[in-house]
Amino acid sequence: MTFWWLPASFPSPGLCWLGISNSFGTVARTIYVRDMPVTVRRITAHDSLQLREIRLAALADAPDAFAGTHAEESKRPYSSWSERARTNASGVTSATFFAVDDREVVGLVGAFRPDVATNSVQLVSLWVAPVARGRNVGRALVLAVVAWANEIQVDTVTLWVTCGNTPAEALYTSLGFATDNAIKPLPSDPCKDEQSMTLFLESSTAVH
Ligand SMILES: CC(C)(COP(=O)(O)OP(=O)(O)OC[C@H]1O[C@@H](n2cnc3c(N)ncnc32)[C@H](O)[C@@H]1OP(=O)(O)O)[C@@H](O)C(=O)NCCC(=O)NCCS
Repeated sequence: MTFWWLPASFPSPGLCWLGISNSFGTVARTIYVRDMPVTVRRITAHDSLQLREIRLAALADAPDAFAGTHAEESKRPYSSWSERARTNASGVTSATFFAVDDREVVGLVGAFRPDVATNSVQLVSLWVAPVARGRNVGRALVLAVVAWANEIQVDTVTLWVTCGNTPAEALYTSLGFATDNAIKPLPSDPCKDEQSMTLFLESSTAVH
């Protein structure tokens, strides 16, 4: 097991990283912003209740940001959350990461490989609790997905973002994602559109 410390001028001045890596890759990163630690870690198979709670909080807080809806997902059986926690806790097909401060989970992001033949990872479900915003937590969550994508050796990270979601678009752009001109109706509200953005990993300056 190794510990590493990266006082990062990238991605943001004042943002520092403490990492813990083992033979399975990086298992946790803690960012320090103004001496306040927020740890970004992959979920465990035991996190199903917290996963349900934070995902439903995200859907209630920002319904326009996601393809799913609170009405649909709140009806899912607990077994489906257990299954998602189990399958996202390890392996190279899908992953979910939590951002945790000293008391609670304050953010999440998911990623999956739609097709093993496709050398790409799709980033989904990014959300940071309003109390934790503006402290680089969103950036740290996206970088956790980028690091996982590097670990499983894919070429790109893609995502869909609702057109007009300026904070999210700015966050992705600051990390090197670019729009690729694909637009489709937002599944949860077809009156709105979402656009695709892609990060090419070989040109990424993100933390590996
Ligand atoms: C988008 C979201 C994840 C950002 O999380 P966050 O922790 O506040 O973001 P960070 O502090 O890491 O900000 C990183 C960068 O994002 C951009 N950004 C974040 N919030 C912003 C805002 N309100 N306005 C403009 N740009 C913003 C900035 O470029 C910022 O970098 P800077 O502080 O150096 O200028 C958060 O606002 C959120 O959860 N929104 C609701 C859900 C959502 O929209 N999810 C995205 C689905 S695609």
